[in-house]
Amino acid sequence: MTLHKALEKVTFLKGLGKADLNHIVKIASVRRYRAGDMVFNKEEVGKNFFIVNSGKIKIFSSLGGGKRKTFAFLGKGDFFGEMSLLGGKIRSASAQAVEDTELLVISKQNFGRLVVRHADFSMKIIRTLVERLDKANKEVESMLFHNILGRLASAILELEAKSKAGPLTVAIGQGELAEYLGTTRVPVCRAVNSLKRSGIIDYQRGRIIIKSKARLQSMAARARG
Ligand code: CMP
Repeated sequence: MTLHKALEKVTFLKGLGKADLNHIVKIASVRRYRAGDMVFNKEEVGKNFFIVNSGKIKIFSSLGGGKRKTFAFLGKGDFFGEMSLLGGKIRSASAQAVEDTELLVISKQNFGRLVVRHADFSMKIIRTLVERLDKANKEVESMLFHNILGRLASAILELEAKSKAGPLTVAIGQGELAEYLGTTRVPVCRAVNSLKRSGIIDYQRGRIIIKSKARLQSMAARARG
């Protein structure tokens, strides 16, 4: 597939004019990563902006004592790496390929030019930043005030919306799930078992199967208050 065709399929670039897309094609290059490869580490100086063309990227932060918090899984059409280029200078989190992944790469200088010269592109970046901030606020609220069961229910629904593992299925290990929730394995294991016992989900060999989406939704809604 040509780079132009690939870019036309990128969700966050949909609606951009031909001229804007042509310009991005000129300044982007392609980089491939194997599952497990790091794209960059937290606190490195940001040099590039990335768009996911295929595969899956995990955005996470490592805390002391081997603890990790997964902020997001990003798939085809999502972008990352803009925060350090727009202000913070250093990477606010690490990025790792969790599957074989192809990224479109745009240098800091070219990204700066895009933001200044192409208003549609900048608006799309701003909209996504607003969505991410909103999600982060809700997550802080939920961590402060809500129980692990409600948080787990929300997380399963979020992951299912992006899942490629099949209908009502999420492929994720308990360790990954704990990192996504910002907690440790033991409470997550207990919460998973409790949802299993209630017949809301099944969990086998790293796969969550949603048996009652309606009950998960009502638990998540109750946790949001
Ligand atoms: P940057 O700080 O350059 O490097 C890490 C990137 O992770 C950051 O830019 C964002 O693109 C991305 N990122 C950070 N926090 C989140 C989040 N909560 N949700 C989605 N992406 C994020």
